[in-house]
Amino acid sequence: MMGSRASETPATTGSDDVTSPYHVPAELMPVVTSLTSPERRYLPLWYLYDTRGSELCEEMIQTSKSYKLWKHEYSILQTHADDIASKVSSPAVLVDLGSAASSKTRLIIEAMLKRHAVTFVPVDTAKEFIETCGRQLERDYPGLTVEPFGGFYMDGVRHSAARSGIKLLLFLGSSLGNVSIREQLKMLQEIRAQLTDQDRFILGVDMNTDRETLSQAYGDQWIPIWRDNLISRLNMDFGGDMNHEMFAFNFDFVENSADGDTPSYVQLSLSSSGKQRVHFEKLGIDIDFRDDERIHFNEGPNTSCKWNMKQLHSLAERSGFAVDAQWTNDEDNYCVICLAPAGVSKPTV
Ligand SMILES: C[S@@+](CC[C@H](N)C(=O)[O-])C[C@H]1O[C@@H](n2cnc3c(N)ncnc32)[C@H](O)[C@@H]1O
Repeated sequence: MMGSRASETPATTGSDDVTSPYHVPAELMPVVTSLTSPERRYLPLWYLYDTRGSELCEEMIQTSKSYKLWKHEYSILQTHADDIASKVSSPAVLVDLGSAASSKTRLIIEAMLKRHAVTFVPVDTAKEFIETCGRQLERDYPGLTVEPFGGFYMDGVRHSAARSGIKLLLFLGSSLGNVSIREQLKMLQEIRAQLTDQDRFILGVDMNTDRETLSQAYGDQWIPIWRDNLISRLNMDFGGDMNHEMFAFNFDFVENSADGDTPSYVQLSLSSSGKQRVHFEKLGIDIDFRDDERIHFNEGPNTSCKWNMKQLHSLAERSGFAVDAQWTNDEDNYCVICLAPAGVSKPTV
């Protein structure tokens, strides 16, 4: 609910921080719109990953004892990087959607470089972070050309598709599961439409649906990243006075039928600890939070989807892909799947 001092819709041109009366860059306007929505407050997931958020996240996912997704995918790539590299002929463009530090992608880069020259296009909204990581990759791998694309997934896909050369497109870290559940099919169909017959799409997905291990994986270790750093960013970007101690971090797991097409998913959110008013100086607004009112971490209900193999295959087929190969870890709860364009992409339903 709105505070009495101003409207929740900021009177801004939304153009840039020079011309906007409230000094909000145009690219942050979707964040303002979703945070101030009276029906359902949420933050786009990309907003959680500024440079500091990306650094904290990378450190946590590699070292955590309970969040094992990074290690599961790493172990599969370690064993099968050569198989994956062999899926495209030389020379190839390697595109990494939501690349972050590309820490697991290094395994694919090494396997590809054994065969031919590689141009690497990391795609991520955390532009400065991937540019820094890209410079390190070029130092570490002579012969590798890195051309970072700071922007959204599909802009990066279109940007890469416009280049000549065969593409190996990676979407690792189960990041598809962070895309709003209503958008996933459409996104995969659009990716399919941008690929040629010789291109391949490597998708890594989490298949763990054990509530207990998930509640540990998505527990308090995320608070420094997805509460404290996030609130610091909101305060900095919008001149806010949010107090991170006044927001709790919440985990929930929504289990869907294993027989249906809709995967189960983890839902994460912040909730207001009591009734409170937050002021955002640069927006010229107050937001009144009810006790326990949520700020969700996505437009859709899901923060992180957990598929089973049947659901994964169904999604791939409905998107216009055929399964070329698939690899799972020892525990059988993580899958890396290689998809090949098949026929004509079906229209979105
Ligand atoms: C879960 S992390 C995965 C990182 C890495 N691929 C891995 O497997 O460890 C998701 C990454 O995607 C980026 N990201 C999130 N939403 C995005 C979007 N809509 N477009 C581009 N990048 C996005 C984030 O900045 C973050 O670096």
